[in-house]
Amino acid sequence: MADMNRVWRLRKRPVGVIGDDVLSFDQEPVPEPADGQFLMRMNYLSLDPTNRIWMSDMDQYMPPVGIGEAMRGVVCGTVVESKHPDFAQGDIVSGLGSWAEYQIGTPGMLNKMGPLGGVAVADAFGLFAVVGPTAYFGLMDLGTPKAGETVVVSAAAGAVGSIVGQIAKIQGCRAVGLAGSDAKCKWIVDELGFDAAINYKTEDVAAALKKACPNGIDIYFDNVGGDILDACFKQMNLFGRIPTCGLISQYNATAEVPGPKNYPMILMQRLKVQGFIVLDYAARYPEAITALGGWMQQGKLKFRVDMHEGLEHAVSTLRKLYTGENQGKLMVKVS
Ligand SMILES: NC(=O)c1ccc[n+]([C@@H]2O[C@H](COP(=O)([O-])OP(=O)(O)OC[C@H]3O[C@@H](n4cnc5c(N)ncnc54)[C@H](OP(=O)(O)O)[C@@H]3O)[C@@H](O)[C@H]2O)c1
Repeated sequence: MADMNRVWRLRKRPVGVIGDDVLSFDQEPVPEPADGQFLMRMNYLSLDPTNRIWMSDMDQYMPPVGIGEAMRGVVCGTVVESKHPDFAQGDIVSGLGSWAEYQIGTPGMLNKMGPLGGVAVADAFGLFAVVGPTAYFGLMDLGTPKAGETVVVSAAAGAVGSIVGQIAKIQGCRAVGLAGSDAKCKWIVDELGFDAAINYKTEDVAAALKKACPNGIDIYFDNVGGDILDACFKQMNLFGRIPTCGLISQYNATAEVPGPKNYPMILMQRLKVQGFIVLDYAARYPEAITALGGWMQQGKLKFRVDMHEGLEHAVSTLRKLYTGENQGKLMVKVS
């Protein structure tokens, strides 16, 4: 085991795109676990759009990361030393940790990963830690899809969106995805089985939605907010549902973001718009994992990990989420 640790610490709040000076990459002594703790060496760091929220001090669902603190992240790693009776050297754990090669773990924050049933650790971590349960509960609990309905999802070739569209198909719905390149649109239709895809960067979104959703939209699974949300509002069916999962189009905003122009549609069409955070569903994770794992085994669900090497590249890799350069679940391989 190395003597020195490598840790990303937050140095200032980002303004706009996360600059190179927002975090520092420091060398520090490896921490010592106390009784009841263990030491984990990180294998994979999940990079998530919400990392940008945690760096900021906007109103949010958890305390922001403090200036000088190690950056918070969703992590997966191997126990290298344990002073907790339930954890042994070699156990694979995942959960909420920090952007550090070595870190102290306690049960509750970092938990043992269940049997992987032949699935690679990176795939299981990528699908089950955040993305899969987010797609599953957001669509199934808040969207309440019924066979024959039309489900539209934004950031559809991304980690959450790609799963949402596939679950919609499994539920017998029409799945329509919005994505930012022709290659992504082709992938979700040809490989994932979406019924239609719209390149929101090159097409007239309102006209394309009308064509792709001849019976209107019953569920819009919102990953982005902004203009796409507005366009979808206009074509929602009576008693439609909008699970608000994310607002990535405005995470880097430097000025106040205007509200949706088509907000009156909530009243006119009696829409149900509800935000959610996947942590709200922590107690029900096994349900999502069973369903998603089963669909994977049956060949009904595909999942793509976009792996990059090196903790030292975490910040530049994270930025890919906000430019659409990621091709699936973005992750860094640390060791
Ligand atoms: N509520 C929760 O608990 C929860 C949990 C996980 C994730 N989320 C949210 O879910 C969303 C997707 O997260 P993810 O982890 O699956 O990331 P992801 O979709 O794999 O990556 C983000 C994607 O967003 C798209 N994007 C970036 N800027 C955009 C813009 N201005 N307008 C439209 N699309 C834009 C890009 O795809 P294109 O090339 O298509 O533009 C990019 O690839 C995020 O908003 C995230 O915050 C919420």
